[in-house]
Amino acid sequence: MSELARRAEKLDAADELAGVRAQFVLDDVVYLDGNSLGALPASVPGRVEDVVRRQWGELRIRSWDESGWWTAPERIGDRIAPLVGAAAGQIVVGDSTSVNVFKALVGAVRLAGEGRDEIVVDATTFPTDGYIAESAARMTGCTLRPVTPAEVPGVLGDRTAAVLLNHVDYRTGRLHDLPALTAAVHAAGAVAVWDLCHSAGALPVGLDEHGVDLAVGCTYKYLNGGPGSPAYLYVRRELQDRFDSPLPGWNSHAEPFGMRPAYEPAAGALRGRVGTPDILSMLALEAALEVWDGDGVSIEAVRAKSLALTDFFLECVTSYVPAGRVETVTPVAHAERGSQVALRCADAGDVMKRLIERGVVGDFRHPDVLRFGFTPLYVGFGDVERAARVLGDVVR
Ligand SMILES: Cc1ncc(COP(=O)(O)O)c(C=O)c1O
Repeated sequence: MSELARRAEKLDAADELAGVRAQFVLDDVVYLDGNSLGALPASVPGRVEDVVRRQWGELRIRSWDESGWWTAPERIGDRIAPLVGAAAGQIVVGDSTSVNVFKALVGAVRLAGEGRDEIVVDATTFPTDGYIAESAARMTGCTLRPVTPAEVPGVLGDRTAAVLLNHVDYRTGRLHDLPALTAAVHAAGAVAVWDLCHSAGALPVGLDEHGVDLAVGCTYKYLNGGPGSPAYLYVRRELQDRFDSPLPGWNSHAEPFGMRPAYEPAAGALRGRVGTPDILSMLALEAALEVWDGDGVSIEAVRAKSLALTDFFLECVTSYVPAGRVETVTPVAHAERGSQVALRCADAGDVMKRLIERGVVGDFRHPDVLRFGFTPLYVGFGDVERAARVLGDVVR
């Protein structure tokens, strides 16, 4: 056994989150793609079966009330809230991240008010955010200004309406400085919108603490909600009365069953709702979130383990992979690292195929990036050592 394999054993033995793994359905594959689709929590199949057979099959329409279907978007929003540092009453779950980016960004421009006609967007963003920002800009009569997150402070001014940023870059795994960038956006009098897809469930976000205005995120990555599970929208409490959704569906009406011809928004985070919620997916997500109820399972503990896992992976890669064969694009500094490691590699697509054949699942991002996501709830140090060792074999 190698020295690194021995270290992995020791680290796994001391890992206080090691027991959480048993709450997931896993096999002997090393699953490092939870930054794309989280693994299945063992409680989900039974819950979905109950929702389908009993709540839908037997209670039918009564379940909107008796099974809590109608209030699920805000109830599950409140369950996600502590994981992203938000007090209750500010998050609703529903729709995709893309749709929530649209609501948040147009809502942000409307909040910013007269005379502000520029939207700043992260030029390196996950594409959907950029596409939607472009459309939101056209619809609101704004100019779109794509810049890198590092350039954001330098382009802010009295014309900036809203700034859309990613907390963690989907490709490089770089963690951006949410407190400092939010403060810079506020100093310019603009509205800060954050996409938390790659940070929620992996590290503390501190939405309330840092005064973030609006935020969105998905639930199928580090929150393990399942394929296509609904996203969420955070609207800071002080802004809720002025939040003017561009998608004012009947679920966000002050009196949805009043069936009134005129729209009147509900109070609070509810005005981020649109239409009938996707109950099957939403209640699967609710079951998945129960893994966070366990003793000692906190976002702080998850972050500490995430950093230890990614540190150890980088060390193992240095040791097992021939020098010069891959290049790390994820920052080494903890303050700049999310929960994934991205390695640039000339034949990355082919390398990932061979890794998957050998039981190590990460993913490939065009044109030359190998991504490895580390979900501390179910990834162990032995997995990390094995993944790096197999990578070394594959690229040699
Ligand atoms: C940063 C980011 N934003 C948005 C999305 C996609 O959003 P949607 O849920 O609408 O597919 C992703 C998907 O991976 C993402 O990484």
